[in-house]
Amino acid sequence: MATNRTFTMIKPDAVENGHIGAILEKISASGFRIVALKKTQMTQVDAETFYAIHNERPFFGELVSYMTRGPIVAAILEKENAVADFRTLIGATNPEDAAEGTIRKLYATSLSENAVHGSDSDENAAIEGAFHFSGREMF
Ligand code: TYD
Repeated sequence: MATNRTFTMIKPDAVENGHIGAILEKISASGFRIVALKKTQMTQVDAETFYAIHNERPFFGELVSYMTRGPIVAAILEKENAVADFRTLIGATNPEDAAEGTIRKLYATSLSENAVHGSDSDENAAIEGAFHFSGREMF
């Protein structure tokens, strides 16, 4: 059953490049309600845990150092069919393959620095949201 929440991060490249406001505006304009929101910085252990599924991949070390090098903006978003609709809004993992008008097409730097995260399943959305937020930070 599809739930109505997903989890996102505006990643360090997009924060460094000044895109927080534009990305949040696009998210809101696309019908997502912000349930939880914060600017924070992941530690090495945070990033290794969050991306543990990729820990055997050749890009893992680069991914962890990128995700910890500066602040991110984490958010839980609510909308009907949130996970799938948000994946559509952000576009393909590699911005070169992302559709016109998607967040990654507009704001990502490269495959490895691709501006935003979006959960890939309802189960992961719940796990990732709980990783970053306590219940009292969700409204
Ligand atoms: P993945 O979960 O496959 O993509 P998505 O973020 O679209 O769900 O990969 C997680 C992140 O790892 C991805 O956003 C960017 C990085 N990555 C690389 O740096 N190189 C790669 O070859 C892949 C597949 C991902």
